[in-house]
Amino acid sequence: MKIGIFSTPSEASAKAAELVIAEFQAGATNFGVATGSTPDLLYQNLRRAHQLGTFTLEGKRAFALDEYIGISKDHPESYRNVLRRALVGDERTGLREADLHTPEGTTADPHQAARDYDRSIAAAGGIDLQILGIGADGHIGFNEPCGDMHSRTHIDALTDQTITDNARFFGGDPGAVPTHCITQGLGTIMEARQILLLAFGANKARAVMEMVEGPMSARWPATVLQNHSNVTVLLDEDAAANLQLRELHQKRWEMQQ
Ligand code: GLP
Repeated sequence: MKIGIFSTPSEASAKAAELVIAEFQAGATNFGVATGSTPDLLYQNLRRAHQLGTFTLEGKRAFALDEYIGISKDHPESYRNVLRRALVGDERTGLREADLHTPEGTTADPHQAARDYDRSIAAAGGIDLQILGIGADGHIGFNEPCGDMHSRTHIDALTDQTITDNARFFGGDPGAVPTHCITQGLGTIMEARQILLLAFGANKARAVMEMVEGPMSARWPATVLQNHSNVTVLLDEDAAANLQLRELHQKRWEMQQ
């Protein structure tokens, strides 16, 4: 893992945008996109680059990590709608609606939808660059603790912590947050050729420490990334606060720049 520590989320997101733009200039086709607040500034930077003509997702494909089960297609917080607002159209990043792929959360058979989604990623040739955030409980995508570390796209239940954390998107009401989701599995995520994980804020500090320095364990699902050979982690100071080997991470980061 390459660990970059920045003063602010804004600086870390500018670096993230630089890395994404370089990958697409070098021929990347399939973009794995995360939701949540963390990638907001990255997407803002990508929209700006699109306006300036230095970046486009036109003719590329984007695959979401996850979707809530049972959320209405019109709900503004369905991940499809969140990603549509962030990325789709000429006034955003040039991504075409038909090229935005999200798991089907409203179908009668979500297990089949999960299998279909996994196959659609493979059929497209796999993810070139996957953006990840991290949950305070160490989840990536919506792979909550103590699941299968090799899982494919599947149904999961959300922890109380995740429901509480995500209530801010649902008028502050935990009861309004869907309780289940379809998520790319840890095995699916691990097949991405390159992974860029962003984490900001003190409430991510424990999960970040476990992911970077802890033993690999299903208790902290993001630790599976220790076994991937091309992961870049971009942190702000608050999210990096619990790292014990900070100096070593920084020396390695400087060597790689
Ligand atoms: C969400 C998403 C994840 C995201 C994480 C952190 O619930 N399913 O993809 O990375 O939890 O969210 P945030 O960036 O809002 O802190």
